[in-house]
Amino acid sequence: MDAQVWFVIFFVVAVAALALLSIRRKSAKRAAQASLAGVNGFAALSRPSLAEDPNKPLVRILFGTQTGTAERFSKQLGNELRSRYGDSTTVDVRDVETYKPEQKLATEKLVVFCMATYGDGEPTDNAAVFYSWLLKEAEAVEGGEKEPFLQGVSYGVFGLGNKQYEHFNAVGKKIHKSLKTCGATPIVRRGDGDDDGVIDDDFEKWTAELLEALDKSDLVGKRVDQNGHAALPIAVPAYDVEVLRAGAGREDVAPFPSGTGKDVHSPFWANISTVRELHTSQSDRSCVHVEVDVSGSGITYEAGDHIALYAQNSEAVVKQVAELLGFDLDARIVLSVPKGAAAGDAASTLPPPLPGPISIRTALSYFADVLSSPHRDALGALSTFAADREEAARLALLGSAAGKAEFAEFVAKPHRSLLEVLQAFPSAKPTIGAFFGCIAPRLQPRFYSISSSPKQHPHSIHVTCAVVRDKMPSGRVHEGVCSTWLKRHGDGAAVPVFVRHSQFKLPASSKMPLIMVGPGTGLAPFRGFLQERAAQLASGAELGPAHLFFGCRSRAHDYIYQEELEGYVASGVLSHLHLAFSRDQATKDYVQHHVEAQAGALWPLIDAAGAHLYVCGDAKNMAKDVHKAFIALVQAGKGCAGTAAEAVVKELSDSGRYQRDVW
Ligand SMILES: Cc1cc2nc3c(=O)[nH]c(=O)nc-3n(C[C@H](O)[C@H](O)[C@H](O)COP(=O)(O)OP(=O)(O)OC[C@H]3O[C@@H](n4cnc5c(N)ncnc54)[C@H](O)[C@@H]3O)c2cc1C
Ligand SMILES: Cc1cc2nc3c(=O)[nH]c(=O)nc-3n(C[C@H](O)[C@H](O)[C@H](O)COP(=O)(O)O)c2cc1C
Ligand SMILES: *[C@@H]1O[C@H](CO)[C@@H](O)[C@H](O)[C@H]1NC(C)=O
Repeated sequence: MDAQVWFVIFFVVAVAALALLSIRRKSAKRAAQASLAGVNGFAALSRPSLAEDPNKPLVRILFGTQTGTAERFSKQLGNELRSRYGDSTTVDVRDVETYKPEQKLATEKLVVFCMATYGDGEPTDNAAVFYSWLLKEAEAVEGGEKEPFLQGVSYGVFGLGNKQYEHFNAVGKKIHKSLKTCGATPIVRRGDGDDDGVIDDDFEKWTAELLEALDKSDLVGKRVDQNGHAALPIAVPAYDVEVLRAGAGREDVAPFPSGTGKDVHSPFWANISTVRELHTSQSDRSCVHVEVDVSGSGITYEAGDHIALYAQNSEAVVKQVAELLGFDLDARIVLSVPKGAAAGDAASTLPPPLPGPISIRTALSYFADVLSSPHRDALGALSTFAADREEAARLALLGSAAGKAEFAEFVAKPHRSLLEVLQAFPSAKPTIGAFFGCIAPRLQPRFYSISSSPKQHPHSIHVTCAVVRDKMPSGRVHEGVCSTWLKRHGDGAAVPVFVRHSQFKLPASSKMPLIMVGPGTGLAPFRGFLQERAAQLASGAELGPAHLFFGCRSRAHDYIYQEELEGYVASGVLSHLHLAFSRDQATKDYVQHHVEAQAGALWPLIDAAGAHLYVCGDAKNMAKDVHKAFIALVQAGKGCAGTAAEAVVKELSDSGRYQRDVW
C-alpha cells in the first residue's frame, strides 16, 4: 500500500477514536441517570428517578412497543429534545407500563406517545393496561359521566404500524382520538408510521413537524442550539466490555435466568419433547408439529393462548458473524453500561446489558438479530469503525438523513440483512461493546398459537410451525430463525418459553355453534379447540354444531393433521369439515370461497343460534378476504344491503362473537 492510503486509514481511525473518546468523557462527567427501561425479557435495572423540577417544562415521552422500534424512536426523540433545549427542559422517556396515568396524566403539560399496533388492531403487551384505561376514560367523558379532565394537557401521537394490516395504526389513531375526547390538545398532526415502507423516514418527518410546533409554543424552554447548528456527531452507544480469560474467574450464567414461564419477564427453560414434520414428502415446504414439555413449571394455559419461544441463530450464522468481525467465539464477556452515563448521552440509549459472564458464542446465538435489516442509526455507528475510507463514507451516507434514497435502494427494498451489510463492508469491524450496544438489535421471542388443549395435555404445549424459507431478491435464501431452529435442533433441546394469555376463547357453553376458519398454520388454535371438545364429549357434554374451514395448497402435500381432523368428523367433535385445496384444480380455491358458498347453512347459526366466529392465520390477505366473505354471507342470508351486513358483522365483533387471531 502506498503512503497515501496508509495516511487515510490512520486519519479515519484517529477520527473515530477521538469521537468515541469524546462521547465517553462527556458521559463520565454527568451524573448517573441512565434510563434503562425493561426491554423484552430483561429485568429492568434499578432506575434512579429523574428529578422533575417543577419550575422547568417537562416533556414526557411514553412508548408502547413489542419489538423495540417505538422505544428506539422515543429515545431518539428524547435525545433530540435534550440537545435542542438543553437544561431548560426536562425530558423523561419511559415504558408506558411504568407510568401511572390515573395519577399523572391530567397534571402533564406535554406528553408524546409512540405507540405500535399489534394483532388485530390491538395494543402491544406493555401498553395494554394504559390503552384500556384511556379508552374507558374517553367513553366516560363521551357519555357525560366525566368532565374532560385533560384540559391543559398538550400531546402528540406517533403510531407505528404497517399498511398491509387491516387495522392500520389502530392504536395510534384511538389514542389520538381519546386524548382529544378527554380534553387534551394536539400540538402536531397524528403521525402514522408505516413499517411496510421506511418507517424511520415517517418518524423523522413527523419529528420535524413536532419540533417546529414546540419552538413556537411555551411548552419547552429556550433553544440552546440556535447558533452553530452543527450536525450532531454520530452517536455510538457502546457497553464497557470486560473480557475474561479462559477458565478464569466467575462461571458463565445462562442467557436467560430460569423463571416461571408466566410472562415475558420470566421465561421458563422447557424441553422440547417432539418435533415431527407435518407435510408429506411430496411437499417442497415444511411445517412442523412441536411439543414443549412444561411439566414442573407451574405454567397453565387455555386453548387459544400463545406461547413465546426464544430460539437461537444457527451455528453457521453465528460463525459467519464472528469471522467477519474477528470475534473469538469462546471469549467470555461481561457487558456493562459505562459508569456515569447521563440522560442525553449516547450511552443512555443502551438497552440493559446482556447477562454475564457469557461466551460470545452464546451472546451471538441468543441475542443478536443479524438476519433482519439494520436500522439507519446502526449504519452510522458502523461507519465510525470502517477502516476503508470509501466504506466509511458510504456507510455514513446510508446512515444519514441525506442518504434516504440510498438506504431504501441498498437496505430496505432488497431486505438486505445486517449480516449481508457487514459482508458488503468488510473493513467495518465494530467493537463487541458497540456491536451489542447499537448495531445488532436484540433477537426477539417468536409467538405461536398453542395447538393443544390442557384438557388433554396439561403439561405439554403444542405448536404448529411453518418453516420459513424465503427467496430474497438478492438470491439469498432467508431461513426463518425460530422455525428453522425448531426443525433442525428442536428435538430434545431446551428453550426459554413463556405463555401469553389471549382473548381467543371458546364460548362458555359447549352447545354454542362454532364457525372456525383456519387455513395453513391458522389451524393451530382450532386443533386446541377440537381437543377441548373431544374432552367435553368424552365427559358426556352435549356439543353444538362446529364448522371448520381448512385450506392449503394440495391434499397430497400440506393437508396437515388430516387423520386427526377426519377422526373428529367421525366422532362428532366436528360436524362439518370444509376443505379448500388451492392448487388441486385449474382455478384457485380458498377458504373464503367456501365460507361464502355455505351462507345457507351458516346464516341460521349466526342469526338465530348465537354461533361464534373465529378466524386464525395470515392477517395480510386471508383474514381480510374472509372478513369480506362474512359480510357477503350476512348479506345473502339476511337479504340486506352491504352496509347493513357490515353493521351486523361489526356488532358480532364488538360483542365478542367474532374473534380473530391473526399475524
Ligand atoms: C400472535 C402470533 C401467533 C403466531 N402463531 C403462529 C403459528 O401458530 N404458527 C406459525 O407457524 N407461525 C405463527 N406466528 C408467526 C411466528 O411468530 C414467526 O413469525 C414465524 O415462525 C417466523 O419466525 P422465524 O423466526 O422462523 O422467521 P424470521 O427469521 O423471523 O422471518 C420471518 C419473516 O420475516 C421476513 N424476514 C425477516 N428477516 C428478513 C430479511 N432479512 N430479509 C427479508 N425478509 C425477512 C421473512 O419474509 C420471513 O417470512 C405467529 C405470530 C404471532 C405474532
Ligand atoms: C404479528 C404482528 C401484527 C401486527 N399487526 C398490526 C396491525 O394490526 N396494524 C398495524 O398497523 N400494524 C401491525 N403490525 C406492524 C407493527 O405495528 C409495526 O411493525 C411496528 O413498527 C412495530 O413496532 P415495535 O417494534 O415498537 O413493536 C403488526 C406486526 C406484527 C409482527
Ligand atoms: C430437560 O431435560 C434434561 C435432560 O434430559 C433434564 O436434566 C432436565 O431436568 C429437563 N428439564 C425440565 C425442565 O424438565
